[in-house]
Amino acid sequence: MIKLHDKYFESYISANKLNTTIAKMAQLVYKECADEIPLFVGILNGSFMFAADFVRAYPGQCEISFVKLASYQGTESAGKVKKLVGLSEDVTNRTVIILEDIIDTGTTLEEIYTIFRHKKLKQLKIATLLYKPDVYKKGLHIDYIGLHVPDKFVVGYGLDYNGLGRNLSDIFTLTKPTMTNIVLFGPPGAGKGTQADVLKDKYALKHISTGDVFRYNIKNETPLGNLAKSYMDKGDLVPDEVTINMLKQEVERHKDANGFIFDGFPRTEDQAKALDTFLAEKGATINGMVALEVPEDLLVERLLKRGETSGRPDDQDESKIRNRFNEYQNKTAILKDYYAQQGKYYGIDGVGSIEEITERLTKVFDKL
Ligand code: XMP
Ligand code: MG
Repeated sequence: MIKLHDKYFESYISANKLNTTIAKMAQLVYKECADEIPLFVGILNGSFMFAADFVRAYPGQCEISFVKLASYQGTESAGKVKKLVGLSEDVTNRTVIILEDIIDTGTTLEEIYTIFRHKKLKQLKIATLLYKPDVYKKGLHIDYIGLHVPDKFVVGYGLDYNGLGRNLSDIFTLTKPTMTNIVLFGPPGAGKGTQADVLKDKYALKHISTGDVFRYNIKNETPLGNLAKSYMDKGDLVPDEVTINMLKQEVERHKDANGFIFDGFPRTEDQAKALDTFLAEKGATINGMVALEVPEDLLVERLLKRGETSGRPDDQDESKIRNRFNEYQNKTAILKDYYAQQGKYYGIDGVGSIEEITERLTKVFDKL
């Protein structure tokens, strides 16, 4: 799965399939006009790849030119076609074969017919790589059709979604991510664990606490656990790669999960990118980073209180607590930016009762 702007797409027609389709089309066209030199006219921008591959597969001599028309805005056919660049060749008595990437409503095709209506061609033929039979509204004749596609927005192989995706080798179609994955964030003492416990049940998600995953692997002396321990024993940081592999393994252990709440991961931009790549392979993505925002002084107070009962030495010393807090701010600011740039950052006021905060989180989770 890939993401272009705000939308997700999955591969729908492979580059291979496109290749064989185009080779067949080129052969067929050649058979029907072998005794002359046709002028192929590609309709820009969408058809540039198709036109290039088509003429490469065309066994005879030919000429190629382009006109530039535009009708689509976003994922909707705008209904009005604008001619941006016209044809400069003299087409009198020529066989002109239009190369279109896709015929959808047929509005563009109508414009093409109009452009050539008063020119004294020998003949005009239309070849389109893709055709949407459920949407096509015009009775105009189409001579060569590569592949039929359903009424779904497609991108790739010349076709774009608001400018992006033209350079993809496959044709992709719109899709929705199947899992819901949330990165739960917050400084130490923000109440992540408490909230994750409630939310995982409410949304049937699997809670992955990085700390728990580490402790599990080390305790059970798994290969990754032993590897991580070897760094920790030397006082070194565990490399991103080891952490990522441990997390991947944990995701793989729950193949039929509806999604995951990641808690304590990712911690670095590299980890975030690795997580994105890994999820993309599974047709999924991070839907949002939800961060509990709590003022520092309140956190210090909470942690000191926890230290009275928890016995954790790092919860008992205010300067150590502030240090952890600083480190959190420094490191996670980058991640906040990383997710915010994708429109995926949700800051939640983390001050209040557990129920109040759950309520606020629920409002965001419902949207994701
Ligand atoms: P009409 O509706 O005029 O559409 O037949 C033809 C032109 O619109 C573009 N088009 C698309 N572009 N995904 C795209 O990226 C699509 O699903 C799609 N459908 C139509 C294309 O430029 C074509 O020439
Ligand atoms: Mg287009």
